[in-house]
Order: sequence, then C-alpha cells, then structure tokens
Amino acid sequence: NLTSYVEKEKMSIHQMFNKDFLTGLNKIQYQDEKNRKRQFEKKSEPYEQEQTLIYKNISSFLKEMQRLSKNPIQNSYLRNAYDREFRRARAKLPFYAFRHTILEELEKNDMLIIIGHTGSGKTTQVPQYLLEAGFAKNRKIVCTQPRKIASISVCKRIAFELDCEHTNLVDFKTVRTFLNKQELERKKKFNHKDNKLLLMTDRLLLQEYKKDNLLRKYSCIIIDEAHERTLFTDILLCELKKLVPKRRQMKNPLKLIIMSATIDETKISNYLNSCKVITIPGQLYPVKVFYEKIEQDYVSQSIRKIKHLIESNKLTGHALVFLASLDDLKKAQNKLKVDNDKYSVMILHGNMNMEEQSKVFEELDSKIKIIFTTNVAETSITINGVKVIIDSGRVKQKVYDQDRNISILKLKFINQSSAQQRKGRAGRMQSGECYRLYELKDLENMEFSCEPEILRMHLGIVCLELLSFGVDNIIEYDLIDKPDRNDIIKSIKKLESLGFVEYGKITENGRIAADLGLEPMISRMIIEGINLGIGIDMIKIAAMLTITNILYKKDLTKDEKNQAKVQNSNTKGDLFTLLSIYNQFSQNKFKTQYSWCNANRYYCNALRFAKQTYGELYNIIKTRLNKNIIFDQSKKEDLILKAICSGLHLQLAYFNGVVNRQNVYKLYELNQEVFIHNESVLNVLGNSDIDSIVLYTELNQHDRLYIKNLTPVSHELLSQYSRIDLDKLKKESKKELLINNINIQVIEKIKGNNSEMQQQIEELIGS
Ligand code: CDP
Ligand code: MG
Repeated sequence: NLTSYVEKEKMSIHQMFNKDFLTGLNKIQYQDEKNRKRQFEKKSEPYEQEQTLIYKNISSFLKEMQRLSKNPIQNSYLRNAYDREFRRARAKLPFYAFRHTILEELEKNDMLIIIGHTGSGKTTQVPQYLLEAGFAKNRKIVCTQPRKIASISVCKRIAFELDCEHTNLVDFKTVRTFLNKQELERKKKFNHKDNKLLLMTDRLLLQEYKKDNLLRKYSCIIIDEAHERTLFTDILLCELKKLVPKRRQMKNPLKLIIMSATIDETKISNYLNSCKVITIPGQLYPVKVFYEKIEQDYVSQSIRKIKHLIESNKLTGHALVFLASLDDLKKAQNKLKVDNDKYSVMILHGNMNMEEQSKVFEELDSKIKIIFTTNVAETSITINGVKVIIDSGRVKQKVYDQDRNISILKLKFINQSSAQQRKGRAGRMQSGECYRLYELKDLENMEFSCEPEILRMHLGIVCLELLSFGVDNIIEYDLIDKPDRNDIIKSIKKLESLGFVEYGKITENGRIAADLGLEPMISRMIIEGINLGIGIDMIKIAAMLTITNILYKKDLTKDEKNQAKVQNSNTKGDLFTLLSIYNQFSQNKFKTQYSWCNANRYYCNALRFAKQTYGELYNIIKTRLNKNIIFDQSKKEDLILKAICSGLHLQLAYFNGVVNRQNVYKLYELNQEVFIHNESVLNVLGNSDIDSIVLYTELNQHDRLYIKNLTPVSHELLSQYSRIDLDKLKKESKKELLINNINIQVIEKIKGNNSEMQQQIEELIGS
C-alpha cells in the first residue's frame, strides 16, 4: 500500500503546489527504494522495521512540506513558482476584470456601493486594488467587519496575498486581551503608524470616530458586509454620510465604499443621497443546492445528513454545518460518531479565543474537517477546502422587547440573505454542494434580510451610544431605520434615573457606560462599585453575566446540575455565586483550568471567555478613569450588595406565594407573575421568606416568564436606592400571600369531606 499512499500524497500535493515539490518527493521515494533494496540484500533487518523507516522518511518530508506550504512565499526556492500560481488564482476572481471600473467610479464618486456574489473577491480584493491605486500613500485605508473573527481572518489573508505577513502594513485592530502571546509580540515589534490597511470591527471604528470626528487618519473607509446592519454599521453610515461632504469641502476627500452580496441596495443608495451602485457579475465556482423537508429536530437531521454523505462517499472536502446556538454545537459534537482517523469534528463560535479559532482554519494532515458553527461563520470567512455546506436554516437571536423590558432568546428561521451567505461559504476554492434542511417554498417564505440590530436591542445601549458622541436629539437622528419614538423617551428616562443622563446630556458616568457597551444597569453596578472601592468585584460579576447561560456543561442531568449548583452556591444569591466561581477559576493557571472546570462541571471555554471579557472591561475602565481602582476593603460583601442595589433597584420582584410547590414572585414594575429560572441558586437552596425581595438582571420568556440572576435584598437597603413605597409593597405582598394561604388551607380541609360541602365552600370562596 505504500506506493499508493505516496501516489495519493503526490496527487494532492500536485494539486496544491507545483512540480518542485514533486521532484523532491520523487527523490525521497527513489532513495527509499534504493535503501530498501540494499538492506534486503544484506537481510540485516526484518521487513517491518524497513517499512517503518520508509514511512518515517516520507512523513518527515511531508511534514517539512507542510511547514513550507503554510507559508510558501518565504522560501525563495518556491517563491517564483508559487507567485505565478497565485497571481493566476487572483486573476481568476470575477472582481479582477472590474478593478479598473471600480477605481474609475471611485474617482468620480465619493460614495460607492459594490455588490458582488459571495466568493467573487469583494473582501480580499477591493482593499488591495485601493492599496495598489495609492490610496494609502498618505493616509490609511480601513475596512470594517461585523465580527472580530472575520476581521482577523480577512487581515491574515490579505497580508498573505501581499506577502507582508511579517510586517504590519496590513493589520487588524482588536481589544488587547483577545490576543495571544505571539500576536502581542508581533504588535510590540512594529509601530502602528506604519499600517496601510487596517481591519477592525465597525464598533472599533466608531470608537475612533468619537475621538476624532473627522477620521483624519483615513483616506478610504470600506464598510463590508453591510447587510448585517449592526447597530454600529447603522450609526457609522449616518455619521459618514455627513462626514464625506465635509471632508470634500476641506479638500481632503474621504472615500466611502459599502460592500455586500445581499443588501437592499436601493434602500441604502436612497439613504446615501442616491449614491452610485456597481454590481459585479459572476461567480467563482458553482455551488449546487439541494432542498429537504423541514424537521423539528434540526440537529439530528444534520447529523443524519453528514452520516449519509460519509456513507455514500460524498464527503470529499470539509463540511461546514450551520446550527443555531452553542448548545446545538456541543450536542452535535457529542452525538456525531465518526472514524477519528479520517474525520475531525470541530466547533466554531464567537466566544472562542484566537487559539481555539485558529484550529478551525489550520490544515490538518489529511483529515476531513466537519465544523459545526453558528452564524459567526456566515460572512467574510473562507475555510480552505470547504466543499459541503449543511444549512439547518435556524438561528438563535436575542430580541429585546422594549415594551416589557424583556430579552427573549428566540429560535428563528434565518432570512434569505443569510441563506445565500451560508451557501456562499462553499464554492470559494472549488465547486461545492449546499444541503438546505428546508424546502424552496420555506426559503421563499423567509424574510428578505434580517431585522436591523437597532430595532432588536436594548434601547438604553443605543441611546447611550448616540448621546456619547453628541447626538442631542435622538428622535430626529437620521437613521436608516428608526426605533419607536415613545420607546426612546422611556429609555432616556431610565438613563436619567441611573445618573447617565442629565438635562438631555450624557454625564461622565454615562460616557463610561457607553464605552462599556453593557446594559445600562450593569454599568451602573460597576460604576457604583468603583466608588465603593470594590470595582474589581463588580467587573468580575459583569463579565460572568455575559456567559451565564453556558456556565454549566450541557450534557449533565438535572440532578448533576443541581448538585454542581449547591456545591458552589452562595446563599447571598446568583451574582455572589458567579463572583466566587470566577475567583476560584482564576486561581488556576491556564493548564489546570480545564481539569478544575471538569471537576466542578463548568464549561471551561465559557469561563475563559468571561476572563477575557473581564480584561476588556477592566481596560476600558482604566483608560477612562486613569486611576487605580483596587482598594483593600473589609466588609466587602455589604458593599457589593450596595453596588448591586444601585444598578438593579428597578428590576425588582417580591415573593407572592407558592403555586404547585414553586415559589412565585411578582414583578414590581409590570405587576406580572414570574418564576425563578432553573439555573438560579435560590431555586436549589429554597427561599420563601415572606418579606423576600429579589433583584434580577434578566427577564426571560420561554413557556412562562422567568427571572434570572437573582440577589435577595432587604427592605432597608433597597430604600436607600429606590423611591418605591416599600411599606405598601409589603402590605400588598402579605395580603396576596394571605389569600393564597387561606385558599390552600381551605382546600386541604375540603379533601376527604363530602362533595356537597366542597361545592358549598367553593361557592363561598367565589363570592
Ligand atoms: O468577499 P467575497 O465573498 O466576495 O470574497 P472574498 O472573501 O474576497 O474571497 C474571494 C476568493 O478568495 C474566495 O472565493 C477564495 O477563492 C479566495 N480566498 C481564499 O482562498 N482564502 C481565504 N482565506 C480567503 C479568500
Ligand atoms: Mg466578503
């Protein structure tokens, strides 16, 4: 089999590279054969050893080649041949033929919308055309992506194509704590002034805009994947629309390019004063689409699909499987059993750090990758060798109900634009197939594109963001899609009560809150914590709150989960519990984190993500306040409780009796009955104090309403922060409780007695 093995390798290498490699491989094969012959003649070693030796030789050669192939350009021997191949590949992209058209149009227009099929070269090529045309001579070019993962992978690709991976001409900008050691070293070595092309998220560009509202550093701004319509993209578009003519007047023109494969171009063009649209025709490789009948359990359906493809030998390249949530990914990863020598099952989601993410992009010996992912891999990402797409058609989206102040995590069908983007992850290197786990008629019924984020998220965050760069009149602010006027007014009132807005203007604390980008009450907790000298603890809690729904390992039974909860729970409530979990976790070195989490049944990556978030939040605070925020505090717990109260005092629920052995609470603001979320430690510890008041961070609707992340507080403490009439509240809750108790007692008594009497009493209660 050795020969066929070598032949196969030769073939695959041939496809990847060129003759020079083959010559090398031939040489080794030849030498091995000679060796083998010689040694056989001497009969000095048994045959098996022979064979191992040959394998060793070949595999070391292959390894060497793989090392080179990762960065073939560095090796001058390969350089010329590789360059040739490479240029040919770039010239094959549909955009290549239109590069002059694009540049000419940009000469004539300051704003331009470019539409082109997925994989046709928007993201990687357009910035390069601009570089080549000299846009980065005096100023920089910046290209935004909706997500961190995309901005890094696009940066690496462009740097690779331009052969400047070891410089920083092309660079990405991200929050520091996200970087690994290697990247930090690289960043330290170079001066960021040398950047010519910068990749970053739209959020970071907006932050730069706050510091320099002329964006003087840049000659050209590309907003890529504009169809995602993130909050930051929407705000940027509104601001840049004003900035472009301003810079023109200053004789220092700024070019703005909007790119997407699937955007409502008429709408955007109208919004940008009838700006020019160019549509580049053509597609790189065809992707064949198959439809299937929709099933409820899409995770199992996609696993069945993969198995089927494997069994029928149709999985000849890597597969990218789109599911809805991290839970789905883990479930699928556990459920799919494959031959581990041939296949490698991986997951890719937004809460992964750079190291974990890069694994997905790496070439693995000769294994076929099966990658489960969510919509983070939907745009701007190319994973080499992806041939098969399986699209479950589902997405999980957090929707904020402004009316009821409820965030709802909704499982939804995707929209047509997402469907096209998902399909477009194949057909980039070779032709491919896309299996949609829904039918054509379902696709036609889907919405055209996703609802803009600005209409889906907590308005408090939106308002703070706008106020923070001086938008005084949010209601009149010229957004593409505007939130409801009354919702805006309500939201500003809330910000006032938190001390973030005064007389319609943002306060200093409001600015910190805008930088933090968290829900305003959480930011309030942190800021109060800083004043009380326990800021660090509050930042830790806030970081933990970003992950709570994935804290525990998902394959646990309910009992196991409860046990895990009891083990680490703090009677002072969920937020205190989260803090102590964080503290214990971070006592571990990186190496022991995993085993600690396993022993305690936590999901390690989630906690690592919290740690990273902690670092980000800490840095934001430090840059803003420019002072030491660590003090040594005794009586810490009381202070923490105070900080929690100052942030959450409006999110209050009081105990309202027991129904079916479950504690029921009542929301103060909405006067609605709610239950305690399963994950709460209060549920495990049992808590039915008649005076009990809890503060919550989240109100969720599944089958019924739940409050999440609870902290019990005393009336005394609460009265320091809130103007709620607690006495009345107390009476209310006692009265309702009384009625409840009477009902229960009466019904108990009736049991066992005759039905006539039962009826009479029921009538009595009724009246
Ligand atoms: O942005 P758009 O979807 O139009 O395409 P792109 O991301 O610029 O990629 C254009 C082509 O470059 C893809 O179809 C791939 O053939 C190639 N590419 C690649 O080989 N490796 C990458 N990491 C990125 C792109
Ligand atoms: Mg793209």
